[in-house]
Amino acid sequence: MTLHSLRGFRDLLPPESSLFTRIETAAREIFSLYGYREIRIPTIESKELFVKSTGDTTDIVEKEMYAFTDQGGREVAVRPEGTPGVVRAYIEQNLSQSGKNGKYYYIGNMFRAERPQAGRYREFTQIGVEYIGNPSPYADAETIIMWVKLLEKAGIGGISVELNSLGCAECRKNYREILLNYLRLNIATLCEPCRNRIERNPLRALDCKTDGPVLAEKAPKLALCAPCAEHFNKIQALLRSSDVPFSVNLNLVRGLDYYTRTVFEVKSAALGSQDAVGGGGRYDDLVKSMGGPQAPAVGWAMGVDRAAMLLSDKAGAAMDPAVFVVSAADEAAGTAFKVLGELRAAGVSADFSNFELSLKSQMRSADRSGAAIALILGEDEIKNATCTVKPLKEKADQRTIPLAELLTEIQKLLQ
Ligand code: HAM
Repeated sequence: MTLHSLRGFRDLLPPESSLFTRIETAAREIFSLYGYREIRIPTIESKELFVKSTGDTTDIVEKEMYAFTDQGGREVAVRPEGTPGVVRAYIEQNLSQSGKNGKYYYIGNMFRAERPQAGRYREFTQIGVEYIGNPSPYADAETIIMWVKLLEKAGIGGISVELNSLGCAECRKNYREILLNYLRLNIATLCEPCRNRIERNPLRALDCKTDGPVLAEKAPKLALCAPCAEHFNKIQALLRSSDVPFSVNLNLVRGLDYYTRTVFEVKSAALGSQDAVGGGGRYDDLVKSMGGPQAPAVGWAMGVDRAAMLLSDKAGAAMDPAVFVVSAADEAAGTAFKVLGELRAAGVSADFSNFELSLKSQMRSADRSGAAIALILGEDEIKNATCTVKPLKEKADQRTIPLAELLTEIQKLLQ
């Protein structure tokens, strides 16, 4: 029997996995500069949490959630996104009373039973942030600016930021009827699931994967109330004054139900059809609607799998050891093993293969390892307390140096 991973689930192998680490490390560094602290939430939660927050008319909940009844007869779901869990924790752990700034970040795998394709998997990694408790446009602007800085730090370029406002409950009241009328008139062009859900949630049709883009293009646009328009304008002014390029996309509605006012996406044309590196927005009513205090919030999540695709040309080199240690005689193996430890203690990455194999075989492994230098210890070297240094990447002669000078010599060579 041959075992296969499930469709849409994949093994992340080196060197691609190193890109994930690189992006995650950049994220942690940036988050600490902006006062965000890490939250780790469960992978499985009650199904009801996602139905109530992500929304029962969203594709994520209607079609894509891995939900099941557990051994105790509870309806549970594997998290398709992180926001509901963070909001649940915020309420359950009474975090509004913590006296802290309400800024949380998470890095973790999410699960959606979508049709797999390039950049779309059934298990994927998200880096996400939630800023709970700050209603001001400065919070929206800060979170977007932080994201752009993170992408810069990770070396990801060629992205664009798109921005829209979906207004508040008040501005949407009138809009709902206007949009519904438009959709009813165009019912023949809607896909089956949208036909069934427009009365419950007309906005969803504009984000439909089948006919959303065409509908959104032609649909009547939402007129923002004065406070929502002021909020939206202020964010734009703050982004401009921070030199963060963006464009307003009035067709951007996002596929989750909890957004109010600001929504945004970071896109990259280099990703093809799955062009969203990530998305987010403000959700001023969610915490309250889930049973918590009135706590306006804003956040975003980035797909690390997609961000890593934008770095794919940079995979590899960072993972190769700097030095490869080879033992050319039985009596040299002990010293070779000690040298490995000394190199690592001095902060030099070092590796070896199998000291019991022939010199030729160990040198073959050294070449394949990507190391810049091979260190060879044989009978003569042990006798004379020396070691042979052989550059692997450039055409330079090997040299024999005293073991006592090894670290200084290696550090010089690696500079
Ligand atoms: P989302 O737009 O559903 O938002 O997902 C954010 C990002 O996760 C997407 O733009 C994409 O990069 C990545 N992603 C989603 N599904 C897949 C998939 N099947 N395969 C690969 N990558 C995927 C959210 O999840 C919200 N929780 C964001 C948020 C946080 N809003 C406020 N706070």
